[in-house]
Amino acid sequence: MLVLSGIMVMAVSGLIFIGCTKEGPQGPTGANGTNGKDANATCTVCHNFSDTVIVKIFQYDASKHASGSTAFEGARSGCSGCHSHEGFLEKLQTGSSVTQAYNDAAPVNCRTCHTIHVTYSDADWALRSVAPVNPYIDSTSSIDLTVTIPGGTPDGTSNLCGLCHQARKASPWITNPKGTDSLAVTSTRWGPHHGPQFLMLAGKGAFEMGSAPFASTNHKGNATCRNCHMGPAQGDLVGGHTLWMTSAESGDNVAVCKPCHTSIGTTFDLSGKQTEIEGKYHQLKVLLAQKSILDTVTMLLKGPMSAAKPKKFTQKTLSVYWNFCMVDADRSMGIHNYAYIRDMLDAGISYISAQ
Ligand code: HEC
Ligand code: HEC
Ligand code: HEC
Ligand code: HEC
Ligand code: HEC
Ligand code: HEC
Repeated sequence: MLVLSGIMVMAVSGLIFIGCTKEGPQGPTGANGTNGKDANATCTVCHNFSDTVIVKIFQYDASKHASGSTAFEGARSGCSGCHSHEGFLEKLQTGSSVTQAYNDAAPVNCRTCHTIHVTYSDADWALRSVAPVNPYIDSTSSIDLTVTIPGGTPDGTSNLCGLCHQARKASPWITNPKGTDSLAVTSTRWGPHHGPQFLMLAGKGAFEMGSAPFASTNHKGNATCRNCHMGPAQGDLVGGHTLWMTSAESGDNVAVCKPCHTSIGTTFDLSGKQTEIEGKYHQLKVLLAQKSILDTVTMLLKGPMSAAKPKKFTQKTLSVYWNFCMVDADRSMGIHNYAYIRDMLDAGISYISAQ
């Protein structure tokens, strides 16, 4: 009896031991040189009794990065650069938006944004990249949304987010936004794709097909994605690593706006700007549907069309449609860049309603 349980204990601890050596990352060998600390001491910089990491994991788990269901798109080249951890690192390394397909892809996680387990020190909280972004829609250009508040350290967080939260290039591509010549489109999925927030904040990426250039609200010179999306967290509802701005329980997280807009009420609808944008958005949506440009059921370009049977649209019409898709996918209803979004919608409404 005694012998038997002894063997069982050994077997169980043996299993645990195998489990650890198999799964755990290899620590730096022996007493490593850094600060004269041994390997265990560098691990405890993060793996200790404080709640720092636990809190971030708690918040992160509530984010769409953790709960989202698009990691499977990492198995497709052309999608993996934004939908998988592996594709994102490849993109950073090569500087190219063309990335491989990854099976067993990991979703966006701590290591995607931070350099976890590289030096095994506090320095590993560093962000992977805060460098200016060469956007997919024009890789020869560069956008830098670093904000430097006088006396503060430069905050390049928006550039990190912008590596993924930007539009993709469509084919055929608009070369003359005011043009009334036609382009032949073969897919109802033609458009900028989801998540163009970085471009919206920058006041870039829309086609200026109206008579005047689009104006731009200067949030980009004052606030980064982090300032608004990663403000002081309320549990796992809003702020911090949840990245959420609003929740049913907490309502709009206006606390992040208050330092700059001291008189803001209980919602983001500052001076009725969101209501105004929402009105224009719906007006253009109805117009695009009436002219058989937008399918409001699928929210895609109105078909049918295929490689064999393309559908023709003027460049100017496609510009209006592209701009509408940008506003739709942005989902801040004017907050990222009020003046730019307003002018995009106004120019579209005035052109389409005259058709
Ligand atoms: C800069 C902070 C930091 C340091 C230093 C650090 N870790 Fe980690 N470690 C993390 C984070 C963050 C995670 C991932 C947590 C998650 O995703 O849930 C993690 C996860 C782990 C895991 C779980 C498996 C995995 O890889 O996700 C193990 C095991 C681990 N660390 C061991 C170590 C060891 C051993 C050392 C020292 C040699 C070390 N860590 C040093 C931050 C750190
Ligand atoms: C590696 C690419 C990548 C980076 C870097 C990245 N994101 Fe994301 N983000 C995504 C993807 C992909 C989704 C959609 C996930 C899904 O639905 O499966 C997403 C979703 C989100 C959402 C939820 C949107 C929704 O559908 O409701 C927010 C908010 C967000 N990201 C903000 C940020 C912020 C802020 C940063 C920078 C701190 C950032 N993201 C950095 C790829 C990225
Ligand atoms: C430039 C980066 C980028 C590329 C490349 C990219 N995506 Fe995304 N995608 C995103 C971001 C960011 C989001 C989340 C945006 C948001 O929720 O605001 C997203 C969201 C999505 C969603 C979720 C939409 C929803 O309504 O929740 C799907 C599905 C998707 N992408 C499919 C794809 C597919 C398929 C490809 C490749 C053909 C692809 N994506 C390529 C950045 C990208
Ligand atoms: C989408 C990108 C993104 C992801 C994913 C992400 N973080 Fe962060 N994290 C940030 C940004 C941005 C900051 C703010 C950086 C700053 O203040 O300079 C930050 C800050 C932190 C800090 C404070 C660092 C310091 O220097 O004091 C910790 C700790 C942290 N994150 C842990 C985590 C952990 C743990 C995970 C995974 C559960 C995680 N992060 C996932 C973007 C991310
Ligand atoms: C000035 C504050 C501010 C800045 C800066 C900002 N956002 Fe937002 N963002 C918002 C607000 C407010 C909403 C939501 C509006 C609502 O819910 O009515 C939003 C919505 C979003 C959404 C849609 C999902 C959601 O949470 O509603 C994504 C994704 C997003 N922002 C990403 C980004 C990224 C990426 C950046 C940086 C390139 C950024 N935002 C910069 C305020 C900001
Ligand atoms: C770091 C400071 C800062 C933060 C944080 C900030 N804003 Fe702003 N916001 C500004 C500045 C500065 C302007 C004016 C920019 C200009 O003149 O082009 C502005 C302009 C605006 C406008 C356009 C107003 C108009 O009359 O043209 C709206 C709407 C807005 N902000 C809403 C918000 C909301 C909602 C939040 C919180 C989610 C927020 N802002 C967070 C600094 C900030």
